[in-house]
This record gives sequence, C-alpha cells and structure tokens, in this order.
Amino acid sequence: MSYAAVAALALGCPFAFAQPNPALMGDKKAFIDDLMRQMTLDEKVGQLRLISIGPEMPAPQLAEEVAAGRVGGTFNSVNHKEQRPLQEAAVQRSRLKIPMLFAYDVVHGHRTSFPIGLGLASSWNLDAVRKVARIAAQEASADGIDLTFAPTVDIARDPRWGRTSEGFGEDTFLVSQLARAMVEGFQNGSPAKRDSIMASVKHFALYGAVEGGRDYNIVDMSPMRMYNDYLPPYKAAIDAGAGGVMIALNTVNGVPASANTWLLQDLLRKDWGFKGVTVSDHGAITELVNHGVASNDTEAAKLAIKAGVDMSMADKVYIKELPGLVKSGEVSMAEIDNAVREVLGAKFDMGLFKEPFLRIGKPEDDPVDLKADSRLHRPPAREVARESMVLLENRNKTLPLNKGATIALVGPLADSQVDMLGVWSGQGVAKQTVTLKSGLEAAMAGQRGKLLHARGANITNREDIVKYLNFLNWDEPEVTQDPRSPQAMIDEAVATAKQADVIVAAVGEARGMSHESSSRTELDLPESQQALLKALKATGKPLVLVLMNGRPLTLNWERENADAMLETWFAGTEGGHAIADVLFGDENPSGKLPISLPRSVGQIPTYYNHSRLGRPFTPGKPGNYTSQYFDQPQGALYPFGYGLSYTSFSLGEIKLSAPTMKRGGQVQARITVKNTGDRAGATVVQLYLQDVAASVVRPVKELKDFQKVMLQPGESRELTFTIREEQLKFFNAKLEYGAEVGEFKLQLGLDSQDVQVASFALVD
Ligand code: BGC
Repeated sequence: MSYAAVAALALGCPFAFAQPNPALMGDKKAFIDDLMRQMTLDEKVGQLRLISIGPEMPAPQLAEEVAAGRVGGTFNSVNHKEQRPLQEAAVQRSRLKIPMLFAYDVVHGHRTSFPIGLGLASSWNLDAVRKVARIAAQEASADGIDLTFAPTVDIARDPRWGRTSEGFGEDTFLVSQLARAMVEGFQNGSPAKRDSIMASVKHFALYGAVEGGRDYNIVDMSPMRMYNDYLPPYKAAIDAGAGGVMIALNTVNGVPASANTWLLQDLLRKDWGFKGVTVSDHGAITELVNHGVASNDTEAAKLAIKAGVDMSMADKVYIKELPGLVKSGEVSMAEIDNAVREVLGAKFDMGLFKEPFLRIGKPEDDPVDLKADSRLHRPPAREVARESMVLLENRNKTLPLNKGATIALVGPLADSQVDMLGVWSGQGVAKQTVTLKSGLEAAMAGQRGKLLHARGANITNREDIVKYLNFLNWDEPEVTQDPRSPQAMIDEAVATAKQADVIVAAVGEARGMSHESSSRTELDLPESQQALLKALKATGKPLVLVLMNGRPLTLNWERENADAMLETWFAGTEGGHAIADVLFGDENPSGKLPISLPRSVGQIPTYYNHSRLGRPFTPGKPGNYTSQYFDQPQGALYPFGYGLSYTSFSLGEIKLSAPTMKRGGQVQARITVKNTGDRAGATVVQLYLQDVAASVVRPVKELKDFQKVMLQPGESRELTFTIREEQLKFFNAKLEYGAEVGEFKLQLGLDSQDVQVASFALVD
C-alpha cells in the first residue's frame, strides 16, 4: 500500500493526506522542508533515535514510542511480523505519519553467508564482490531491511585487531575498489528500489588504526597518513553513492569521532560533499563521557549534535537531552534541523515516503519459514568462496588431492558449522552451513577414496579463553569443548592419520576470536592445535593445512612443516563445498593475500607499502645499521598480493608506450602473462608505483591497478595497463593533492615483492 493510501485510510478520507505532502514527492527538498515546518521539537528529536530491537525495549512499548513520534528507526529486526506493527504505528498512528527505517548489519551476506571481508578481498574480483552485495541486498530487503551498516572499509595493518576480519585488508587502493563495488551492489543505482538497501560505510574514521590493535583504543595519526592511506576507502564508498556513514567509536587525534566537528563537518560534508545521514555507533554518544570530553550525558548530546552526529544508535542521550538543550539555547534549532533533514532525506532516498511498506510487503506474502533453505543463494556462495582461498604452500604438488585416496580429516574446525560462518554473519544459520567434513564427503561420494575423521584437538585448551569467547553476545555457547584429554584426542588423530594416505588438518581460530572486542597479543595457532600438528607431522604422512581464521596468523612452523597450506578464512554457508572443490582441484585456487602475513607479533606492522627510509634494510649487510629486527628474517612471511596456483605463470618484459607522461596525459604499460603449467587457472597481475623523489617521503610502492586473468595451459595474453596522472597524485605536507614531476618506477608482478620494473617520468 502506498504511503498516501495508508495515510488517507487512516484518516478516513482520500484527500486528508497526512502531513508529508505527496504532491511534493517530486522535489525532495520541498517535500522535506514542508514536513519539517510541521514538526515539533520532540518529533524532530524522535527522528534522530535509532533503537535496537529486542534488548533496548519490549516490542509493545516500542510500538507506543513509535506512535508517539519518538523513534526514527530500529535495527536488528529481520522479521516482517516485528516490523509491520512498528511501521503501522508510524504511518497510521503517529501525528506526522513519518515512516520508520529498519537497519541491520548486512556485512558479508544476509541469509546466505559469503566469505568474510578478508576472504572477499582475497578474490580480487570486483564483479564477484558486487554480486555478493547485490544478493545480500536482495535477501535483506526481502526481510524488510532498508539500511545496512556496511561496507566495513577500515584499513587494517595490525592483525591483533579482531575486526581485521570484517574489512578488506591493508591496502588503500584495493579496499577503495571493494568499497565501491559493495556500495554499488547494495544500492544498485538507487536505494529506493525495492530490492536495494542503503549502504552506510563504516567506521568513520580510522577505526582500523586503533593503537596496538586493541579494540576501541585511540587513534593518533599524522594528517598525511590519514589522507593518503586511511581515508580514501570511506571516500570511495561515498563517491559511489553510499547514503550513510557510521561514525567510529575511536578518537581521531584526541577528539572522539562522535564529537569531531573537523571530521564530520569540515572533511565529510564540506570537503567531500557528503549529503547523506550519519549514524553513531552503538552507544557512542554517551561514551563521550567515558572518553572524558563530556562531563555528563547532557554535554555528550550537545557535543555530538554540534559535531554532526545525525542519528544516535542505542543510547537515550539524544531523546533525553536534546529538547532541554534547545530550550536552554545551548543547541540551536538549526543544529537539530540539520540532523533531522538528513534522517528524513535518507528515508526519502530509500523510497519510504512513497511506500513505507516497500520492503515489508503484505502479510499474505510473508515468508512461511524465514530460514527456509530455498531463501539461500548457495551456488553463488560456493563460487565466491572458491575464489576467496589463498594457496600459501604446495610442496611436491601435494594438492590437489585424489578422490581415490584415503584422507584423514582432523582438527577442531573440520566439522564446525558455526565457525564457517565467520562473525557478523547476519541471519546465516549454522545448521545450514556446509562444513569441510560434509564438503569432502559430498565430493568423495561414489569415489574409491575414504574419509576418516578425528577431532584431534579443541580450539584451545585454555578455559579462560573459551569462557571469554562464549561470553561474547552469542545466543548459545559457540565453543564447545570435547571433554577428552588433549592427549587422548591427539592419540586418536594420530592413529587415524596412520591409516590414511594424506592428512587434512582444519586448524585456526574460533570465529569469535576475530571479532569486535577480540584483540589478541599472540597470533600463533593456539597451543592445543600446534601440539596436534606436531604429532601429525611425526607420522610422516603428507600434511595439508586448511586454515580457517579471520586475521593474519603467524605461521612459521606451519610454513616449514606443512606440505600444503590453504588459507580459507571463514568461507561462509557453502564453505565446505568450496574448500573441497579447491582441495580436489575442481577449482584452481587464484586468491591473493589482501594483507601481509607477519612472522611474529613483534614485527607488526608488516604492511608492504611502508614509507621509504634513510637506512632501509639491505639484504646481505645485516650489521650495517640498517632498519631491521636482528633476531628474525625481514619482511612478511607471506607478502601482500601473494598466492599460488596449481599451475604456474610467467610474466614477460614491461613495454612502456612512452618514457614520459605529460600532465593530464597517460602512459601505457604492456606485459604478457603466460600460463606455463598444465592446468587452466587465473592469476592477478598487480601494478605498483613508486615516486622516486618527491617533496615528502613516499611509500616504497603502492598498488595502483590490477587485472585478474584466466588462462588455459600454455596460453599467453598481453595485458595493457593505462597509467594516468591521477594515479601519481598524493597529499603533500600541506595536504595539497597533486602529482609531482619526476621519475616513477612502475612495477608489475604476481605479488607485491616479485616484480618487473620499468621507469617513466612525469613532465610539465
Ligand atoms: C559495531 C558496529 C555495528 C553496530 C550495530 C557495534 O558494536 O561497532 O559495527 O554496526 O554495533 O550492530
């Protein structure tokens, strides 16, 4: 039913439209101005309130609050039966009939879980990621969702931070591309479409740079680093049309983001021209008191509204404090109006004024079973998951496995449905998730091979950690401990391994270990699993590690001792099938790391695009006062952009179209990539640039372009990369954005370290 019809019905007269004037629907500004003219202060403040369904308020009370015009939207409801009465309360019973909006964290899928952010990024396939967001939007909008708190585009260079899992890794260019693809997928040209959801990019800003990787910690960062490395992904999402921005929980150079006028107004609105709605993170406004920039909630509300926080998520601060602040003159009506205008604008853009039930639909169309398997998108989930896996090692062609072999499957993650989902898995249902064990069984059905299974170890033997993980706000305990002694489990696994031709060990983290508030000081595999692997190694059987984890782990022993190692992250609903596809060679792995894997925690940060130094580490001259850790080899254990294949590739020489580029001009780099092996496979040719001498210190190299190509055995293809002046630009010490004349080194490679080099110069 259209908005006008609902309103007219409610008032019993076809012409007695409620106050939002449908006649003005063609002119957003006029429509909103007209509506705002009729709003009381309390109604305005009500629009700024975003409530979490469930924990914050019982449903009947919530409906009354909505009818009283005291709520602008909710999040965490994915159920038409919950949403419909609220929308009815809004558009039938509230004085102004302003529709509610319904939001949710649709991060890497909704009902279907796709791989976590790091996995999606490992695909280096923008079309695939756009499709993931599209499907997620279709599923979420079918559940009445109008707005998602995604994409998460925080650059993460410290894998101690648990939320590294959610984003797309360490690289500004790759994350920016993925940010754009996600927004395009969610919104599909317009958030007003029935099967679109509005994207709100998060966490603005710099959340991934929390000091020490400890969640919620401060961020203190030079402006140049901020502008060059950390801010571009948020901007890319906004430029792609993201209608919302979620404000980060952290401080930005001494001022919490939620009270940061420079961030939310000068940068976001004035410099970037953002025209959408800003939403606080969960309880962030009242937390301004904890930060110590507000002495009480009144002051917190004042700071946040003045800084530019439009909607307050899950705290009562705005609703309680803003009316009084306006009355006392400390907050102006114009400041309230600015925020209200954005909330109403977002609702307008979501199509809710035209059709408040656009995504809720009619009761007779409600899904009988929200969790029905028919509501999932399994084939695309399997496809993307196959592409998200990174082959780290493959000695003696241990992989692919033979379906005729006897395989010993061991490890605490081999048959765990819940972990496969990864965190922020929306409405993903553990029971609908394919584990590695089920995936292997399905692939081996009807084959000569045999699958043996033993758990071998718990995720960890540390009860304190298990308790912590189960304390995170899950509905039911997630980490279940096998009560047997660690040794009994290892003995069983070793006995099983001895009967097999090859061991597949599924090891890594419980999903909750890579989550919000899940920072770690160590990034090794937990000891229980290390002990298992050592015992398995001693059997002498080929050892294949299937890693499931949400952040880079330090895999030194594993690198030396595993015959093959496949990083699968948390691969989602179809994870087990997808991993089996890769292990058996039905899919040739093509994933590339979107983040460097460190050798140790002490070596962090290990990001590849670090700044140049006066005394860079010089191989072969270890005692030469060069920048290094003397007690460990230098550089990442596995570098950014790295990933093997079952085939091999070679790159020819770089051919440049010209030795110089004029301002505004371009240079083409051509290179031939050849599949030199005996299987079809895909690889990613990566283009890096280095500014040889600039007015400020620039990175050793930066990713500026890439192409993923599929090649048949023996096939070669010439690729052309076009480099434009835009790709040479950066923010200098005065934060002026531009390219400086001089030499540039262009590097093309199949990872960030093993590259061909050529040079050109930018000239005036
Ligand atoms: C997280 C956000 C999330 C919000 C709502 C917060 O704890 O930091 O990323 O969108 O909760 O679920």
